[in-house]
Amino acid sequence: MQEIYNAIQTAAIKIDYAIKHEDKGYSDNQNSTGDIQLKLDIHCDEIIESIFSSITTVKELASEEKAEPFTLHEEGRYLIGYDPLDGSSLADVNLSVGSIFGIYENDYSGANLKAAVYVVYGPRVEIVTADHEGVKLFRLEPDNTFAFIQEIRLKERGKLNAPGGTQKNWPSHHKALIESLFAEGYRLRYSGGMVPDLHQILLKGGGIFSYPGTTDVPAGKLRKVFEVFPFAFIYEQAGGEAIDGKQRLLDLKPEHIHDTTPCFFGSKEEIQKVRNSYANY
Ligand code: F6P
Repeated sequence: MQEIYNAIQTAAIKIDYAIKHEDKGYSDNQNSTGDIQLKLDIHCDEIIESIFSSITTVKELASEEKAEPFTLHEEGRYLIGYDPLDGSSLADVNLSVGSIFGIYENDYSGANLKAAVYVVYGPRVEIVTADHEGVKLFRLEPDNTFAFIQEIRLKERGKLNAPGGTQKNWPSHHKALIESLFAEGYRLRYSGGMVPDLHQILLKGGGIFSYPGTTDVPAGKLRKVFEVFPFAFIYEQAGGEAIDGKQRLLDLKPEHIHDTTPCFFGSKEEIQKVRNSYANY
């Protein structure tokens, strides 16, 4: 696993450079869900693929930018589902963006996730790893190495509320939940980048991030394999919880590599509030 973490560090340094100095315009390509790809999305995907191609423990790669997974090393052990540059359009307005990696064995179900990693490209470049040893924060130093900073643990209850999705299309029970959180004193923290939004909640000790099913998109927007399972794993390892409203997210299986799901990540008290609000829907 350390070899994979090292490869992600190398990729992170190159991606950080690309974000800072390369063209942020649109390409002529569409991804599998019909979005026009940014040149930066394509280049970050190439960086990651090229770095993993020399790691023989990596059997297969599934990128958010590609329609299907593909084999790298037949004899390898791990399948890596990744989003090369999540929230990439935010780079254009100089907000933080991130890369997300789920490291799976056998298939891309939540139960087979062995480790998860994300990188935040902001004023600092930080990497968070989660595995059976817990959740650890590393920061890029001037000599281009990543220094261990701290372990991350969520408190039982936090203060932040990051509610995703178009409010006009929220179902009424979801709207009531979000309003009740604000009425209790939770503070709005939402940039529109999943990685920095979930990173903030983790580092500030707790709160809730939600991306519900909406009237126009009942299965939500965020993808199980590349975004949701990795963060569900990280939140659970940090002492929090992650559910789809009712069920534990890591108990879900994708029918297709690009499947989406409603998702809620947070500390235990906030997730219990979600369970209470969603119990009858
Ligand atoms: O999946 C892409 C993404 O940009 C996530 O990083 C983010 O959480 C979400 O979309 C934001 O979506 P919305 O603008 O609908 O709240």
